[in-house]
Amino acid sequence: IPVDPFDLTIFGGTGDLARRKILPGLYRRFRAGQMPETSQIVGAARSDLTEDQYRDEVHEALKEFISKDKLESNAVDGFLSLLRYVSIDATGDKGWSELKEHQRGDHISAFYFSVAPSLFGPIAERLHEHGIADASTRIVVEKPFGRDLETARKLNQTLAQHFDETQIYRIDHYLGKETVQNLMALRFGNVLFEPLWNSQYVDHIQITVAETVGVGGRGGYYDRSGAMRDMVQNHLMQLLCLIAMEPPSQFEPDAVRDEKLKVIRALDPVKPEELVRGQYTAKGKTPSYLHDVENEDSRTESFMAMKVNVSNWRWAGTPFYLRTGKRLRARQSEIAVVFKDAPHSIFGEEAGRHRNILTIRLQPNEGMTLGVTIKEPGPGGMRLIDVPLDMTFADALGAENDNVTDAYERLVMDVIRGNQTLFMRGDEVEAAWAWTDPIIESWESRDRRPYPYEPGSSGPEESAMLLHREERRWREIRE
Ligand code: BG6
Repeated sequence: IPVDPFDLTIFGGTGDLARRKILPGLYRRFRAGQMPETSQIVGAARSDLTEDQYRDEVHEALKEFISKDKLESNAVDGFLSLLRYVSIDATGDKGWSELKEHQRGDHISAFYFSVAPSLFGPIAERLHEHGIADASTRIVVEKPFGRDLETARKLNQTLAQHFDETQIYRIDHYLGKETVQNLMALRFGNVLFEPLWNSQYVDHIQITVAETVGVGGRGGYYDRSGAMRDMVQNHLMQLLCLIAMEPPSQFEPDAVRDEKLKVIRALDPVKPEELVRGQYTAKGKTPSYLHDVENEDSRTESFMAMKVNVSNWRWAGTPFYLRTGKRLRARQSEIAVVFKDAPHSIFGEEAGRHRNILTIRLQPNEGMTLGVTIKEPGPGGMRLIDVPLDMTFADALGAENDNVTDAYERLVMDVIRGNQTLFMRGDEVEAAWAWTDPIIESWESRDRRPYPYEPGSSGPEESAMLLHREERRWREIRE
């Protein structure tokens, strides 16, 4: 369905995120016929570029990030013709009146702040000073949204001076992923799971976001953040919320966000002995974390595993184990819901005991598997085995289903549609930091080095121990 015509300005329009994600995403939507031809995409950045030079740069980005068979020349030309460029000084006067000329009153107007958070305030101010923004303007902001509660609060206050909460779209790109949204469809579109979705039937839940990449190339940013700030406070927290939350009364922005907020507020503080931080070492030609960030003394974690308790009626007694890391064995994001044993085994101990595990694969190979216990075939008596009921979404939906959209393109289109459901509200972000801050403070005060782990492994041994001592096991990270 096409959206209404819009003028979208990207501050940081020549930056990495714009090149890698935002502009290729917009191109895909244009190619899918979703973008009205009177729409306009305005790149705004410091560089002195002509419009043609900007179009050339964007063309290069498309060639790099879109597969060749999707770059038909009429689609590319059509898309490039929507582009404008304004050379702008975010903290000065240059460019603002030109930017104003690009705003057409009868179009939806949105501004993507793909810039350092320190520029959010100055840009917001100038948008108002120059009469470019009004009460119908939408703004999009990116992580890092602060580095602790205090800085996040300040950012929220700065934005609130200029915009109402209904105008602010805080992106967590995990919420734009197809399978992440599918979590809600699974839970609330089926009658099958919800009755079992509680501590009476669920033994524990594992959330794994494993990556094979290191931090080379963005070491400066990463070394100041670490896995906790870079991944857990936002992406893993959002996954946890979608798994743990109560059913919202409607699929509407505030109904969903209210329920997520309640989950975050129900999280217990994490005990120091229930978290494990790791840092990858060198192996063969793969450089170590310390080498990647060019800081021999760094105590920042590139791996994090922890046990999280959600203290409410539904989840008391059912731990959530979270882990994420760089340079692990495989790129694998999944959520595993491990159900409890059957209360009584009628087949006797020799039949073996088995557990149902529902695994939701977020990436790659999106889909879900339900481990079901059946009788081992053959005449050998009643012995039980586990078999997977397996569904890969791409197979189930058919190869002709070309509707899989990248997180960014979906989220940008939601901004144009004015739908905030998949964006974080200010109080949600603050609550997440309020939970994160004391955890980080507790390890900073003890000043310990993270445990070393080899590239290509599943993280430090201590992470396995975290579950072993409770007679549980992480699911394998497999190539
Ligand atoms: C980003 C983090 O937000 O998410 C990166 O800053 C991380 O460190 C990335 O690699 C992971 O995203 P995805 O979509 O590749 O799982």
